[in-house]
Amino acid sequence: MKVIAALATLMLSVQAFASQFVINHKFDDDANNDSKVMVIFAAEDEAVTLESWSSATQTMVTTALNAKEFTGKHGQMVEVLAPTGLTAQRLIVVGVGAAGAFNRVKAEQVGAKLLGSLPSDNEVALNASLLADANAVAAIAHGMDLKNYRFDRYKSDAKDRDTVTYYWQVADDSAAQQHYGDYQAIAKGVFLARDITNLPGGDGYPQAIAEMASKALKPLGIKVTVLNPEQVRKAGMGALYGVSQGSQHKAYLLAAHWQGSKDQPVALVGKGNTFDTGGYNLKTSSSSILRMQTDKAGGGAVLGAVMALAGQKAPVNVVAVVPLSHNLISGSALLPGDVVTAGDGTKIEVANTDAEGRLILADGIWYARDKFKPRAIADIATLTGSKVGALGTAYSAIFTEHDDLLATMKQAGEATDELVWQLPLGPYPGIISSTLADIKNVGSPGAQAGAVFLQHFAKDTPWIHIDMAGNAYNAGASGIHPAGGNGYGVRLLTEWVKLYSNQAN
Ligand code: BES
Ligand code: ZN
Ligand code: ZN
Repeated sequence: MKVIAALATLMLSVQAFASQFVINHKFDDDANNDSKVMVIFAAEDEAVTLESWSSATQTMVTTALNAKEFTGKHGQMVEVLAPTGLTAQRLIVVGVGAAGAFNRVKAEQVGAKLLGSLPSDNEVALNASLLADANAVAAIAHGMDLKNYRFDRYKSDAKDRDTVTYYWQVADDSAAQQHYGDYQAIAKGVFLARDITNLPGGDGYPQAIAEMASKALKPLGIKVTVLNPEQVRKAGMGALYGVSQGSQHKAYLLAAHWQGSKDQPVALVGKGNTFDTGGYNLKTSSSSILRMQTDKAGGGAVLGAVMALAGQKAPVNVVAVVPLSHNLISGSALLPGDVVTAGDGTKIEVANTDAEGRLILADGIWYARDKFKPRAIADIATLTGSKVGALGTAYSAIFTEHDDLLATMKQAGEATDELVWQLPLGPYPGIISSTLADIKNVGSPGAQAGAVFLQHFAKDTPWIHIDMAGNAYNAGASGIHPAGGNGYGVRLLTEWVKLYSNQAN
């Protein structure tokens, strides 16, 4: 039995989860004129012209663009077949919008949209020499990479997709290459988060996620600490332990520390509930329980962000803490009304076993404070249906009493298009008061009760809570995301840690 279990673990850890980076982007300041497909990017109301074009080529292209009323509007694409005088059989002209408004987010969207029109089995020449901003050019390539990810572990016909080279002609190739390197680090973090989010609950239990993350993060110089269930229990983390006690897969806790500076660390705490049945407060409708493997997406987000920052060798001190649980039922599961004692000694009445996220985060936040003495904590979690009701999925909800955390998080949200909207922490007198124990794990309004509960454990450490319920998963492909787990939070938190670390120095 033991041998089989060990073998199964080994197989899981060596298995490829997804195909990524099948496009090899090469940046040069010279043209590659041999490709069958050529792309040229143009800003709004600016001339689409290359010095190398003959007047016959120019006339044909201009006529074709006029016929399609091409203005260079953001996302506009016109294809010219068999362009006169060019080796390419297809010329695709892509509008990026007003030059002054062309930024990272707009660039990523253009890349993702363009990808659908490009061959995946043939090299492509992309001419971005009309665009001045090397960072935005690199972000176009990044948008393609983000869109091109596939989680194909459970597809019978999954085989490694062939790598294809896209040749970029840019004004400043070393600048573009450098920015692209930073974006590649972000993409790797997003892919880790998507893999973690996508893994079904039967295969992606706490120990499996801890092993998968360790394997991805250690090679980057990230210090990984894994607490096994016995260590979680002995450390006194009864809230985290309790959520997983009804499952054969007991609780783990993972800490991943990137020490890129000597500053006091920033801590990111992510909800890693690897499946949410609700516990004895069972999720009884089929639609509410389906996809609850995505309840570990907050954990994926913080691990992905640390991976991105380490990949960039960012000069920041950041630690991700992920409490990992499996919220299942059995004769040993928590019962509604049971009392658990958290790591900080707080006695919690578990009035609802489906409000498990805040239980595991309570101990995650306590562990982060106790072991790392962070200058600030951001926690992120698929925490409440109430948040989805209030804001839908275009925003996540943020809660904080600290203006600097609020301002930097909003700024990071806008820079990455992972938008955040503040909800209040009070006044809600008695919102989590318990007659039985110190506090209880539910209250009304729902999203605020979750936030106020977590605030109890952050104590005097500057803290911000991000409720990302509903944001982790797309049923269909959309924008820079293929269908499935989207890695929400990695781009937001990577940006935020840098912004906050700079201003807090
Ligand atoms: N994981 C859920 C929240 C959730 C709901 C995430 C929908 C994504 C989509 C969380 O653990 C939960 O079950 N919350 C309960 C809390 C309630 C029992 C106080 C909820 O929101 O219904
Ligand atoms: Zn729940
Ligand atoms: Zn949950």
